[in-house]
Amino acid sequence: MSKLYRFGVSLEKALIDSFDNHIKTLQYNNRSEAIRDLIRNELIQKKWKEGGKVAGAIVMTYDHHKRDLASKIIDIQHHFHELIISTQHVHLDHDNCMEIIAVKGHSEEMEKLCSSLKALVGVNHVDLSISGTGD
Ligand code: NI
Repeated sequence: MSKLYRFGVSLEKALIDSFDNHIKTLQYNNRSEAIRDLIRNELIQKKWKEGGKVAGAIVMTYDHHKRDLASKIIDIQHHFHELIISTQHVHLDHDNCMEIIAVKGHSEEMEKLCSSLKALVGVNHVDLSISGTGD
């Protein structure tokens, strides 16, 4: 574990009360952990905006009965094979499939992959969640 640094922050009482209530509902045990998460999230968002390397998960749902859709999805995934780490397919019900695609790479490529999937007829929803790569 890297060395810990302490620092003081001055805030208006109303703001810190609001923050304390907020993190309590999120089940944080203390402010430090909540603030660490805020900082990490801010840095990941910065990395994303600057086109840096991030990890992520694309969750998509689509109509199982749509003609040729599954093969079009696979073609797109092959095109982005350098970005995709793994995929998981779930048969949600008789009509709908869900695919969870784990990705690692640059934001621009991830946006291209998501846009290609969203554009397919029969795809109901595509969402991307990003995280740090651990670097
Ligand atoms: Ni399925």
